[in-house]
Formats: sequence, structure tokens, C-alpha cells
Amino acid sequence: MPQPWNPSSWRSRPISQVPEYPDPAGLGAVEARLKTHPPLVFAGEARNLMAGLAQVADGKAFLLQGGDCAESFAEFHPDTIRDTFRVLLQMSVILTFGAAMPIVKVGRVAGQFAKPRSEDTETRDGVTLPAYRGDNINGIDFTEESRTPDPGRLMQAYAQSAATLNLLRAFASGGYADLHNVHRWTLGFIAGSPSGERYKAIAQRITETLEFMEACGITPDSTPQLRTTEVYTSHEALFLNYEQALTRIDSTSGDWYDTSAHFLWIGDRTRNPSGAHVEFCRGIKNPVGLKCGPALTDSELLKLIAILNPENKPGRLTLICRFGADRIAEKLPRLIRAVAREGAKVVWSCDPMHGNTVKSQAGIKTRSFDRILKEVKTFFEIHRAEATHAGGVHFEMTGQNVTECLGGAQAISEEDLAQRYHTHCDPRLNASQALELAFLMAESLRTERMKDVHFAASA
Ligand code: PEP
Ligand code: CO
Repeated sequence: MPQPWNPSSWRSRPISQVPEYPDPAGLGAVEARLKTHPPLVFAGEARNLMAGLAQVADGKAFLLQGGDCAESFAEFHPDTIRDTFRVLLQMSVILTFGAAMPIVKVGRVAGQFAKPRSEDTETRDGVTLPAYRGDNINGIDFTEESRTPDPGRLMQAYAQSAATLNLLRAFASGGYADLHNVHRWTLGFIAGSPSGERYKAIAQRITETLEFMEACGITPDSTPQLRTTEVYTSHEALFLNYEQALTRIDSTSGDWYDTSAHFLWIGDRTRNPSGAHVEFCRGIKNPVGLKCGPALTDSELLKLIAILNPENKPGRLTLICRFGADRIAEKLPRLIRAVAREGAKVVWSCDPMHGNTVKSQAGIKTRSFDRILKEVKTFFEIHRAEATHAGGVHFEMTGQNVTECLGGAQAISEEDLAQRYHTHCDPRLNASQALELAFLMAESLRTERMKDVHFAASA
């Protein structure tokens, strides 16, 4: 029998990745204030996302999850939100065409602040200070004052999340997400991209499809679904004091939901089966994710699945695999087979970012576009070989024209990195790299699908 759960039961479990507040009473006061603040999302929305993810688990839809590694107070601006949303929509249209399936869109946005760190402290020129843990905890500047955890930052993170979500909802339902607009932006990207020629064929097919629909009378006027879209929010459930403060009982179902986002995930560093983060996530009814890194064994994974999804509900659990381009072929097939043997219903998603982080010669954290693409491609190949559904992808990206990841059609080089390197944590794909990746994925998905169609026709 599982132990009883409540929103604070994580507090009696071992916990890692916690900041040390010099003023615990101040933190407690902020938690109490947050408890009186409105939820950011509704339980019904989280249930809709769960239904969408159940379709993904069943091989009938595809998950696209992406956004910042870490949102920051400095980059908070309506244009930043708009541009990230826009890239997510563009990627989604391109992928819809490649996969011929609905795309479930989830942003790493409106709450993705807290960061796990490999070291608790950072030393520069003989000075040691607490590590930066995300703008909701402390500041990135390397001074004692900035690095001291400040509970007031949680209120600012809540306010920024609420304002971001408000704008996203307006964009999603107010006409900005019109399918024709989205496709026009993509045509603009193709015209300006050095490798645009390569993607023209796919873009042309999408244009023709839209024209065909229009000729049949399916227009944004006749079919409002073409004018609006659904986008969900997600972040790592890392700073549990904040997550607990926003965890509420849903009056419809009587269940507990973490209303800070629709979807929460457990990071690769905090997935101890008997630890606090797993304990917290097992009790909330939101769909949840689990990062699966190279150290995860099949027996540990099965144990975590049993804890996090004891009723084996499709859509409840997404396994976000982040092995690295060189290790995925060795690590993933075993896990897929173990999960299949158990009959566990999961969404398999590929995070090709976190296993491919390297340091440039100048010591800047970066990732190569080619390695990212290679991990995604291998992920699709493995699932094809195992006859399972490659359910989705998970990216760190931004709509801004940053120079944080190497390569892509713009051929960003090591020398270019310093030009527009704005991330507060890990290097993100810029808008052009993200779209290019979507086109390359669409090409692979479509080629695979055509093989299936031919096979079915000749069988
Ligand atoms: C992240 O998603 O930003 C992250 C820290 O990932 P992981 O837990 O997989 O390292
Ligand atoms: Co990251």
C-alpha cells in the first residue's frame, strides 16, 4: 500500500538541489502569501492536456515541448514571449505536415525559472559564492548580495508567470495564431534562409494544402479552429516550496493539482525514487514528465513508473530522454523494451539538448546543431526498429536571434558565440535553427510515413 500523500509530504523525504535561505521565516511568509494567490492554470486544462498526451501515448499525436532553459527577469518582454510562441507555432505547422498528426504544444514558459546545478557553489578568482539557481531564487551577478537567496523573487516569478500566461492565452485565442499567418511567417523564413531552397518543397505542399482547404470552404471564417490554437505551459518541478503553495484541490474532481503549470517534470538530478521531488509529483494529478539520463537503469525506471503512474493511465507520464547523440543508441532500446514488457503506457519524448552540452575553446557552454539533429534522428530510428511511437521532442529554444548553439544554416561558429549569448543557463536554439530542425524532422517523419504507406499498399 502506498503511503498517504499530501502537498507537504515531500518535506519528510531526502531532498537535493535546495537553496539555503538566510531568512527561513521570510520564505515561509512568501509561501503563505502565494497560497492566497489565484491559480495560474485550471485543473480542467491540465486534464485536456492529459487527454492530448494520451493520444500521443497511443501513437495518434505528437508532442512538441520547447522554450527557455531558464526564463529570466531581464529578458521579460512582450516581444520575447511573442517570438517564442511564434516559433513554437511555426514548428508545429511544419511538424503537422511531416507527421500527419495533431501536435500537442507545450511551452517551457510562464514558470520555468528554477535550475538544478552540478555544484552548490561557484568560485571565481578565489571568491566562492552560492551557485546561481534561477531568477526566482537568486541573481546571476557574481556578488554576495545577488547570490543570496531572496524569497521576494518568488513573488516576482509568480507575477511574471501570470503576465506571460495571460499574453499567451490572448495570442492563442485572439487571432494571432491563424494558420495562414503562421504559414506566411514560415514562407518569409524560407525566403531569407541560406538553406531555404531545401525546404521549399515542404512549404509548397503546405501552401497547396491550405489552398485546397480554402477551395473546399474550410477557411478561418468558416472554421474558427484555424484561427485559434491550444498551448500549454510547463516547467521543472524543482523548487517545491513554490509548487506546494500553488497546489490546490480541484472542486470538480476533488483531486490535487499543481496550478503553477499544466505540466511539470522531474529533472535528471532529482529523480531519486524515495526523494522529495518524486514524492511531490506522485500526488498531483497533472500530467508529469521524467527526465531520463544515461545513468538511469531499466529497473529504476520501472520503479519510478510504478510510483508516478500506478494506474497506468495513458498521458499521465512522459519520459523525456536526454542521453546525448553518442549514447542514445546504447541506452534507449533497453529502456523501451523494459517498458514494453511491463505494458506501461508512456509518452516517449526526445530532449536532444541536455546530453549534448559542451564547452567551446573559449570556455562557453554550447551545443552543436548537428549533434542535436543526430540525437533526434537516432531517436526516430530506434523507435521505428522497436515498433514503438517516437512521441515527441523537447527543445531549449528562443524566438530571438541569439548565437548560443553552433552550426545550422547560419553556420554559427565558435567565434560567433560571444556576439549574442544571452541565456541565463543552457544554450538555446535560435529561431532559425529551431525552424530548420522542424523542417529536417518533418522530412524524416514524412519519408518514414511514405515507406509505411507503400508497405501497406503492397502488402
Ligand atoms: C533542463 O531541462 O533545463 C535540465 C536541467 O534538464 P536535465 O534535468 O535533463 O539535466
Ligand atoms: Co537546460
